[in-house]
Amino acid sequence: MKICVIGTGYVGLVTGVCFADFGNVVYCVDKDNEKINMLNRGTIPIFEPGLEEMVQNNYKAKRLIFSTDIKAAVTYSDIIFICVGTPSFKNSSSVNLKYVFKAVKDIRKYINKFKMIITKSTVPITTGDKIEKIISSKIKRKSFEIVSNPEFLREGDAIRDFKYPDRIVIGTENTKVIKVLANLYDPIVKKGAVFFTTSRKAAELIKYVSNALLATKISYINEIASLCEKACIDIEDIAIGTGLDKRIGSRFLRAGPAYGGSCFPKDTKALVATGKKFKVNLSIVKSVIKSNDNRRSLLTKRIYEIMSNKLKNKIITFLGVTFKPNTDDMRMSSSLSMIPRLLKKGAIIRYCDPSGKKSEIDKYGKVNFYSNVDKACLKSDLIVIHTEWNEFKLLEFKKIVKKNNFKIFDMRNLYSNKLMKKNKINYYCIGK
Ligand code: UDX
Repeated sequence: MKICVIGTGYVGLVTGVCFADFGNVVYCVDKDNEKINMLNRGTIPIFEPGLEEMVQNNYKAKRLIFSTDIKAAVTYSDIIFICVGTPSFKNSSSVNLKYVFKAVKDIRKYINKFKMIITKSTVPITTGDKIEKIISSKIKRKSFEIVSNPEFLREGDAIRDFKYPDRIVIGTENTKVIKVLANLYDPIVKKGAVFFTTSRKAAELIKYVSNALLATKISYINEIASLCEKACIDIEDIAIGTGLDKRIGSRFLRAGPAYGGSCFPKDTKALVATGKKFKVNLSIVKSVIKSNDNRRSLLTKRIYEIMSNKLKNKIITFLGVTFKPNTDDMRMSSSLSMIPRLLKKGAIIRYCDPSGKKSEIDKYGKVNFYSNVDKACLKSDLIVIHTEWNEFKLLEFKKIVKKNNFKIFDMRNLYSNKLMKKNKINYYCIGK
């Protein structure tokens, strides 16, 4: 099938390369010349395991074309995926759709035959209606169809999530379009994904409802973890025992720091804004946002407690600073709220992250990045395991810290409480 993907960011690149991998020819367009040149040289602008190799293979097989020429891409294609960014407005929860509408106006200029125009970017309900209005102001209604097809990709697992999703959600009532898209997604459906069709507005909302529900599960287990700490109960047993109920499910019940990333924080806020627009009080989602904000402060205060409020000139080493492993993404990472507060108290901050140095942290000054975990930990007073990278799962702390009475705060419960006690290490974790 002839496909065009507009926007070569995270969603666009993964979508484009996966469809190309299924044998389609995919035009990936972006207005950013530098990005396109980079992709044409075989380098990818984002950190995603396995993506670069897949891009190179499909590029060599001539199934993947990177270009800034939107005219050529749109006129060539039958299916156009809009995968541009949908950031929040500054100081607001509402979504800024300027990039989506810019893409739509560009597409409108070059509609030469029937086009399926599909939003993969996360967009608030009724965005599809607005796009339809923009295009039909200049183009005959029967020359195009606007469809919602949200993505559910997790950073770090994006290729697997694209190829083996639980479901594909298609928001359109046009049977001709449904048939074409069923064909496009057939390799994925054959592997067991459910192909679910619904109205366009419902598809738009499903994305927000899914992310808000996952965020709710995390916030809920995080609050229960606090209760477990007071009641001396192991949160991991609670998560297992609760998740075994198939109505609940075991995933997204890992207690830890506040959830971060680009999606959960942004989409929960946008859902509340949508509720407000429709005069519905989404009080549960509001509480989740509040609970997650509190979590950032709560774990910072826990660090103060662990250090008996004596932080001046103490060496605190963060193992991992990204919001999750296998990504270099720092957006809304809880490390960004913890580190400046610890610096203010006079602590000396070191950090080690397998995805490299971070300008978001270095801007605080007085922080030191280490690419070597042993060197980062040497002579530390406190080690904070913030992100569960594999690199941090099997460390022999006594050998690498080489200091008496150092402490560990394991925010991801990577190590065994019992083993740490046996090795006489001052070990603190979550919900135990
Ligand atoms: C999320 C959704 O999972 C995905 O479907 C959507 O398309 C985009 O947003 P992502 O933000 O990449 O994906 O990461 P995810 O793996 O969902 O984790 C989000 C945050 O929740 C991270 O901070 C992670 O550490 C945290 N988390 C996740 C927990 O604290 N506990 C869990 O059990 C799971």
